[in-house]
Amino acid sequence: MRKIYPMMNMKASGKKEKVVLAYSGGLDTSVAIKWLQNEYDLDVIAVAVNVGQPPGKDDIIARARIIGAIDAEYIDAREEFVNDHIWPSLKANAVYQNVYPLNTAIARPVIVKKLVEVAKRTGAGHIAHGCTAKGNDQVRFEVGISSLAPEIEVIAPMREWVMTRDDEIAYAESNDIPITVKKDNPYSIDENLWGRSCECGLLEDPWAEPPDGSWEWTVSPENAPDTPEYTEIMFEKGIPVGYDGNRMDGVRLINELNRIAAKHGVGRIDHVEDRLVGIKSRETYECPAAVLLITAHRAMESLTLQKDVLEFKKSVEQKYSELIYNGLWFGVLRESLDKFIDETQKDVTGTVRMKLFKGNATVVGRRSENSLYDEGLSTYAAGDNFDHRSAAGFIYCWGLPNKTTAKVHMKRRK
Ligand code: ARG
Repeated sequence: MRKIYPMMNMKASGKKEKVVLAYSGGLDTSVAIKWLQNEYDLDVIAVAVNVGQPPGKDDIIARARIIGAIDAEYIDAREEFVNDHIWPSLKANAVYQNVYPLNTAIARPVIVKKLVEVAKRTGAGHIAHGCTAKGNDQVRFEVGISSLAPEIEVIAPMREWVMTRDDEIAYAESNDIPITVKKDNPYSIDENLWGRSCECGLLEDPWAEPPDGSWEWTVSPENAPDTPEYTEIMFEKGIPVGYDGNRMDGVRLINELNRIAAKHGVGRIDHVEDRLVGIKSRETYECPAAVLLITAHRAMESLTLQKDVLEFKKSVEQKYSELIYNGLWFGVLRESLDKFIDETQKDVTGTVRMKLFKGNATVVGRRSENSLYDEGLSTYAAGDNFDHRSAAGFIYCWGLPNKTTAKVHMKRRK
């Protein structure tokens, strides 16, 4: 196998150089610990970042050490993930290609931040990740790292080695790497607070309906309860602060809404998307809280924002979504768009009433102290205070360009 820095691994002191590895505890990154030692002769610091993936990871620190990492850290970044990444994306109604709520993509920057922090603290000159050559995540990790710490060298073991899954298992066995491999699970899964992504296996046929086993967080709409459930989402300046009258922190709110919406089959997404590297891929997502909150947030905005702001913001939202997808979170454009978006959210305060039923999260009510809805203007009943006479003059001016053009065309035709 190719060694890129064969002579660079020994410092003058005789100590080995260090690499911070983004560690999940799974097969790929477990094998990577040994591989980085064997191929690069580096000391490995394994870092697992908690962005809300399911619990049960307590043993991953121990496992990293047993495999041979000189150190291992488990960093709880959930609060930062919610406040600095999920809420800004929600304010932007960020949804890639109008379908994918970007659950995997928005977690990458917070993981990158933590890896860079550890690298700087420990004096590691390298960061390694377990992404393959065909996905978007390699781009997000590497562009992210180079935006925060351009001096750090990135190593991508999974892109370099030529191992198949069976080779990895053999490598693990011959290197005494303890692994628990579920051979019968054909899917590649990524999970965090904002959702669950699933690809591979039968899903690679875009004609095949996602098998039951590919869903894990949500019940199927046909098995969801026969009675709807209502929930009232409270927003302050574009950020959800609680539901049904109970205020709570973001991590708890998202966890609870995931549970409630999943029970009604809300948030199942089946999508063929365009990857940054030019490949179309079929993926399914389960994003119960994200779908519920984005739908509710849009409804809050439609009540509190002026028409021109809503319309202009749509183009910003699309740009913002693409930039998250394309790994450009750490950049001047995103920071500048955040300033615009934050300005628009100052009045986005109030409550949205949602109905959860058989796979749908539907807006059924909204109210706000900043509501721009004026019943006196919109009513067709008594109490109307719209000036009916002004409509005719408005239409005269509004239609004047079309009328003028039509007259000229008519003359030409004669
Ligand atoms: N396609 C999604 C993205 O690029 C998710 C990628 C991770 N998916 C997975 N199943 N491991 O953001």
